[in-house]
Amino acid sequence: MVSPFPWAMKASGPAVGAPVVRWPLDKASGTGCLLTRLELATTLKGSPTVRLQLATWQEVEAYLKRTTAIVVPIGSTEQHGPNGLIGTDAICPEAVAQGLGERLEVLVAPTISVGMAQHHLGFAGSVTLKPSTLMAVVRDTVNSLAHHGFDRFYFLNGHGGNIATVSAAFSEIYAESSLGTAGRNRPALRCRLWNWWQGPKVGALSKQLYGASEGSHATPAEVALTYFVYPEAVKSVEMHPEIAPLGPIYDAEDYRRRFPDGRIGSNPALAKAEDGAKLYEAAITDATADFQAFVA
Ligand code: NI
Repeated sequence: MVSPFPWAMKASGPAVGAPVVRWPLDKASGTGCLLTRLELATTLKGSPTVRLQLATWQEVEAYLKRTTAIVVPIGSTEQHGPNGLIGTDAICPEAVAQGLGERLEVLVAPTISVGMAQHHLGFAGSVTLKPSTLMAVVRDTVNSLAHHGFDRFYFLNGHGGNIATVSAAFSEIYAESSLGTAGRNRPALRCRLWNWWQGPKVGALSKQLYGASEGSHATPAEVALTYFVYPEAVKSVEMHPEIAPLGPIYDAEDYRRRFPDGRIGSNPALAKAEDGAKLYEAAITDATADFQAFVA
């Protein structure tokens, strides 16, 4: 497919399809560790042209003359079992969005890092927005950016509990246009939700690495990805039972009763940073393909 972003190949960053970060560290010799760590830090901090927060308004204005698409990472702040970070669902899509943004030179908006997570409130540290609040956050974010001329919104999601609410928010946004209640200066908008784990490459890799231990919450794949991004936060914890129970989700009290350590069907003790590096690459490749189809 021809890139809709012809400047992407001229960028100083890696070309489409090229590995962004090398991993694992060469632990045996100790060589290359510092360089790799610095490279990772550079990648995650991103360039001013990729992160909206590091751009000036003039740069955004110039960007809008080239393209009107933007990536919006969206996640959650919630328990992720005994060895998973509370920020897992925000950290993963933020990292993948950054990688996608660098490959295609697309702006990445600030991460919406608190999502719809009421069922996790039985565990310390979890924070939720009510569905109505999250819908308002999504709508106001889209409308603010649309005010400047953005019209393609690619929400890179890290939390299954956000899907229904964000999809409903998109319907609200479209209804504003269809019913004529949107601002007159607003262009016709398109919004898309992509879960970082949903593509074929991530799916195949998760299956190969974890099989039936992947489960559905506090999964080894998402924990591994966070360990790759934040190796200083790796935690070693024994899981009892090894693979957590499966079951339905209702409210927070019921959740804690069914899933006492927070996991659902998973064994995240299998999570390793070096596998997180592979998942990171796979997730960027999957998301890049989907994003290009979206904006084509
Ligand atoms: Ni998660």
